[in-house]
Amino acid sequence: MFKIGLVKIANPFILAPMSGKTNLPFRLIIKKMGAALVHTEMISSEGLIRGQKKTAGYLETNLTERPLAAQLFGANPQSMAKAAQIVEQAGIDIVDLNMGCPAKKILKNGAGAALMRSPQRIAQIVSLVRKSTDTPLTVKIRSGWSPAEANYLQISRIIEDCGAEAITIHPRYTKQGFSGMADWHVIHEIKDAVHIPVIGSGDVTDVHHAIEMKERTGCDGVMIGREALKNPWIFKQILHLQQTGEAFHPTLEAWRTLIIEHFSLLEHYFGEKRASNHMRGVLLHYSRSLPKTKELRSLISGLDGKPSFLSLINSYFEQVSGGTLHED
Ligand SMILES: Cc1cc2nc3c(=O)[nH]c(=O)nc-3n(C[C@H](O)[C@H](O)[C@H](O)COP(=O)(O)O)c2cc1C
Repeated sequence: MFKIGLVKIANPFILAPMSGKTNLPFRLIIKKMGAALVHTEMISSEGLIRGQKKTAGYLETNLTERPLAAQLFGANPQSMAKAAQIVEQAGIDIVDLNMGCPAKKILKNGAGAALMRSPQRIAQIVSLVRKSTDTPLTVKIRSGWSPAEANYLQISRIIEDCGAEAITIHPRYTKQGFSGMADWHVIHEIKDAVHIPVIGSGDVTDVHHAIEMKERTGCDGVMIGREALKNPWIFKQILHLQQTGEAFHPTLEAWRTLIIEHFSLLEHYFGEKRASNHMRGVLLHYSRSLPKTKELRSLISGLDGKPSFLSLINSYFEQVSGGTLHED
């Protein structure tokens, strides 16, 4: 267990913020798997303060997924502070600031990982957000803009001095995007340099890797992103291994139940049409953990509403296990 401000984080394993992915239904699935903390996708501070309906929708939550961190992006300290107040009013447990997104449309506004080149701006944003809310505050950074501008230690100290309660580091450079490997040594260096909790993010692809990141770097939290999209069971698998010393493998029946639950949650929160569209992407990710990947993928294109979803699941699981699904 560790704490972010006063918020207790029951175990080290945390769901990464992922744009277009870590919506409420997916977070509820991941929370059930045992993740100690989940993050929203990144939310525009400007959109939030302008009261845009879609942006405000990203703050929708539910008591069973708590604690929750809402991630904000932006470049303007006042807007970030106002947006943080909106997050606080929504009763969300943690405000996380995005200083690591390398997407062009974010960089061109001076937000996300572009901030790594502006230590002063980072100081202004973090201290103003800190002054404007009492909600625990975390900041997610990269290693710097490029190897020639590897300023992660300087930035981490600024973030700590300005009052943030934890730092998440995805140790790649902005210019790298997602290429190459995350340099876990950077996590270790930051852990040595600051007194607040440090969460490592990058390239945890299995249970052993998750435990290894913690052991090798001394980090307090281990964030899991892409692997959780294809194998949401990873959190349960890690905790099970730690508690029993044994590996946990979900059965096909458990997968089927999970997939149906995921669709039901999407339908409940987004309606049938949006649920169907989103479920195609979800199943593409899940197919990478399931047998007969190609067969599942070829069925996905026909997903268009709840009846086609159920018939897809029926035919797929009949192929892989000989079982059938009930429609209720
Ligand atoms: C589809 C996708 C969307 C992402 N969106 C965000 C985001 O909104 N905010 C953020 O800080 N990081 C975002 N990331 C980065 C992840 O949080 C994480 O730091 C990165 O993927 C490395 O971890 P992993 O190897 O476990 O995926 C995103 C990554 C992916 C793959």
